[in-house]
Amino acid sequence: MNLTTKNGSNQGIILAQPDKIWWKETIIYQIYPRSFQDSNGDGIGDLRGITDRLDYLRGLGIDTLWLSPIFASPNTDNGYDVSNYREIMSDFGTMEDFDQLLRSAHALGMRILLDLVVNHTSEEHLWFMEARTSRDNHYYDYYLWWPEEQGPPPYRKSHFDENADAWYYNPPTRSYYLHYFARQQPDLNWDNPEVRREVYEIMHFWLDKGIDGFRMDSIPYISKDRSFPEIDLQKYPDVFPYYSLGPHLHDYLQEMRREVLSHYDCMSVGEGSKVSPSEGRRFIDPARQELDMLYHFGAADIRNETAPDDPATGIPYSLISLKKMYAAWDEAVGDGWPTIYLSNHDQPRMVSRFGCDAPPWRELSAKMLTMFLLTMRGTPYWYAGDELGMANIRFSRIEDYDDIDTRNRYKKIKEHSGDTECFLREQQEVGRDNARTPYQWDDTPYAGFSTAKPWLQVNPNHVTINAAAELADPDSVLHFFKRVVALRKQHTELVYGTFRLLAPDNPQVFAYLREGVDARYLAVFNFSLQPATLNPGTALPRTEPLLHNYPSPAAFGKNRTLELRPYEGILYLLDRK
Ligand code: GLC
Ligand code: CA
Repeated sequence: MNLTTKNGSNQGIILAQPDKIWWKETIIYQIYPRSFQDSNGDGIGDLRGITDRLDYLRGLGIDTLWLSPIFASPNTDNGYDVSNYREIMSDFGTMEDFDQLLRSAHALGMRILLDLVVNHTSEEHLWFMEARTSRDNHYYDYYLWWPEEQGPPPYRKSHFDENADAWYYNPPTRSYYLHYFARQQPDLNWDNPEVRREVYEIMHFWLDKGIDGFRMDSIPYISKDRSFPEIDLQKYPDVFPYYSLGPHLHDYLQEMRREVLSHYDCMSVGEGSKVSPSEGRRFIDPARQELDMLYHFGAADIRNETAPDDPATGIPYSLISLKKMYAAWDEAVGDGWPTIYLSNHDQPRMVSRFGCDAPPWRELSAKMLTMFLLTMRGTPYWYAGDELGMANIRFSRIEDYDDIDTRNRYKKIKEHSGDTECFLREQQEVGRDNARTPYQWDDTPYAGFSTAKPWLQVNPNHVTINAAAELADPDSVLHFFKRVVALRKQHTELVYGTFRLLAPDNPQVFAYLREGVDARYLAVFNFSLQPATLNPGTALPRTEPLLHNYPSPAAFGKNRTLELRPYEGILYLLDRK
């Protein structure tokens, strides 16, 4: 393993032992550039805006940024539809702005990861504009087609298409192309070696500029099963896990490692929706030389798909399943390394989904979730704004939404005379735009994000929930976040120690031990709005806990049972050698 860093950007990062490495110790802070900071008054966040805020982020203790796509794009899916991988999206600025951002970040000891979107391109990418003209075009084979003479294409479901159909007919070629996402996002044909070579060249281009790694969008989908007709999709009530298991996926990832990643000190994380723990291990087992980490969707799936263990706890999903899921991943990764996140640009706000965003619980539950995310084993992926306790905006009208996913699904429901009201209510909780509203810097009309009307509404609660107010309040969610980040840096045993789940069947409390060579920690979190009890089964120290989110930590009950208040979180240092 190469332990040197480049660009002189290793200040404050410990790379002492072979199994220790910066991307295990860091917190990856995700920025949705459109929504972070506008620098030129057009209502759209941009690269200069990010550069202007680097000192603030560094001040919070952040040292790695993942930027959602910044490449040229017609923005059908806000940059997840790339029309030129070597150019910057004009809304976001220029290549000089990017070079400046990278230089400034490195000068502050910060790293930058870019979002590599190569399962598909935009329909406006030159390759596709050529490909769609004729079957004889050189680029035709860069994409996946179903010739019309073979009859109707086999059923494939699209994530975003208003008809949920993943095939779209293209008259000049008399064939249908495949798009797992919107029809403006045609899927690339990774079986074509030229496509893979092009992707690797794009990766070299950015890594040679000095970026520190990639988050890889939809990467499990790249290898398609070409035996289309034989696959009976009825066997897959949810087709997306099937999409993730293409026959050459791991060959391609190994090739990518050999051809590109192994030549740099960089990190790679694959987006791993619908990948199970045992399948996930194959992406990240160091012996297989593929990716460093896989960003699994375990928490989001459990939140969406499970029923409460006990409705009286007020937890709207199964906490027991959530705990078992994390324990299963922890075990499954083997010598690889786990990840954790609770929100991102595709999910609602963390506090609205796993906590409670109504007063007086918003701050308490946001702090509890902060402690949880930053004390689990695995690299935390932190979504910008969660450190303020930003909450869902809960739009009530379809016109307020920008997201192609929400808009297309609404259209479809409307066309089929479905219940659009019900859909809108559901989107208030899960819609992607909840997390995409502008960052709340201050209480001015556009929240300090912009001087012009922003591309997406600012949450009206920015008059009280904003960075300026929270910087001025020592008890704010923001200051709490800063404290936990600092504590995690100071206690590397919280990074490298083992994870052991306690009380797996307790329906309200998530509790675990983190055991390092030199220190042991106990973390307990009441995920519910009701008081809860826990017998940790281990002697508790007489000293104050390292961290707690209430002004004073929980009281003991009889027999040393912990009595936890709603959303109470405590971290104890049990012993230190
Ligand atoms: C990923 C992205 C999402 C995007 C999709 C298609 O899931 O996170 O935002 O819409 O891929 O690129
Ligand atoms: Ca701008």
